[in-house]
Amino acid sequence: MAHAVVILAAGLGTRMKSKLPKVLHPLLGRPLVGYCIETAFKSGAERVVVVVGHGAEQVRQAFADHPGLTFVEQREQLGTAHALAQAESVLAGFPGPIVVTQGDTPLTRVETLKGLVEVLRREKAGMALLTMRLADPTGYGRIVRDERGEILRNVEQKDATPEEQAIQEINPGVYCFDSTLWERLKQVDNRNAANEYYLPDLIRIYREAGQKVASVESKDPEELLGINSRAQLAQVERVLLERLRAHWMTQGVRMVLPESIYLEPSVELAPDVTLWPGVILRGRTRLGEGVEVGAYAVLSDTVVEPYAKVRSHSVCEGAYIESGADAGPFARLRPGAHLEEGAHVGNFVELKNARLGRRAKAGHLAYLGDAEVGEESNIGAGVITANYDGKRKHKTTIGRRVFVGSNSVLIAPVTLADGAFVAGGSAINQDVPEGALAIARMRQRNIEGYVKRKEAETTAQQG
Ligand code: UD1
Ligand code: CA
Repeated sequence: MAHAVVILAAGLGTRMKSKLPKVLHPLLGRPLVGYCIETAFKSGAERVVVVVGHGAEQVRQAFADHPGLTFVEQREQLGTAHALAQAESVLAGFPGPIVVTQGDTPLTRVETLKGLVEVLRREKAGMALLTMRLADPTGYGRIVRDERGEILRNVEQKDATPEEQAIQEINPGVYCFDSTLWERLKQVDNRNAANEYYLPDLIRIYREAGQKVASVESKDPEELLGINSRAQLAQVERVLLERLRAHWMTQGVRMVLPESIYLEPSVELAPDVTLWPGVILRGRTRLGEGVEVGAYAVLSDTVVEPYAKVRSHSVCEGAYIESGADAGPFARLRPGAHLEEGAHVGNFVELKNARLGRRAKAGHLAYLGDAEVGEESNIGAGVITANYDGKRKHKTTIGRRVFVGSNSVLIAPVTLADGAFVAGGSAINQDVPEGALAIARMRQRNIEGYVKRKEAETTAQQG
């Protein structure tokens, strides 16, 4: 029989000093509690209940509907036992084991949850919990055992005597219960230093009811790192990043100064990708075999096909770069930018919803918005598409082997047919037919001898 998982996530998170509910703080681009939800489902949970409180609506909205996922609200934060009790409305009558985790402990492993369920069954216990030994147990609940090693109870830091505070075995906050949980929870009171309903009091209550309390000692302190502060958030992020980098390096990715590279779990990399220092890869970014990303480039939701290059300091968002194309240094590819095979975008070129055909080039200082550029066309330095008339966006269509001279303005909607040639400095607001030269600027006038005459006039006035 499958189990259920309850994730406690209603706490305020005061120490984060933030308007954002603690469990929504991003960890590698995803809300904290998202990791707990994923782990819960991966452990084979049939139902997952998240107890929300502070920013309840926000938390709910951060997660798409998922079969088996339910949110319940704890209106007042009266303690962890009170939080768990809110899940009764959803899980009363659920026959299987009930695992409880904390929404601020995102690294807990799938195997750890499965292990607890197994121990509960094997030892026919009413309750099973994880424990851990820490050199510095400060802040955690301490596990009190009798002389035979049986767990008697948990004591919170605030309530512990000096002798109890010296205990190094702590409660990391991961538990599993049989279906008597709901009736036992009613026996938890708030007569303690915090005036809170303490969930770990269930240890004593289960024992007093004559049921066995089993425990599993975790050997991996990293997986139980809880996030209560910004520093702990950064620490957990570092652990996750190290795991991700190590994973991709075993898959054949070259990272120069790996500790400087940031990437999210949703990113996919192929063998022989090279990442230079300071690279940031976010969202659904996918890099093909042999792709090289230069120093300090930032790529979000961007696909780069094999052997294309994104040079240093480029920023790409929702872009698509085909094989053999290259962008940057200092290129800006915005959503809908598409470089076809062998296309080239150089420094200070911005593309938005624009397609650059095969081997087309925009080498320097250009803006192409809502534009289509045919193959082998050349966009000169300083060319811009004036795609916005203050109210609406318009399209620029450029055919094949078109040459657009430097500093031209293409006032959309406008079409330049195949082989057209636009003279530098032109303001183009009419279509240019195939193979035609368009020149739209003031004719140049040279005034012979002007400089000398001007100098002579000035000298005469002063004399
Ligand atoms: C808790 C445990 C402590 C354990 C530690 C491990 C209790 C009383 N203490 O302490 O033994 O060593 O975790 O990290 O359980 N929450 C609610 N509603 C509430 C209170 C808390 O949903 O009314 C949630 C929080 O959002 C958080 C989790 O429960 O995700 C734990 O609460 P927190 O206040 O962080 O407990 P700790 O002091 O860390
Ligand atoms: Ca905590």
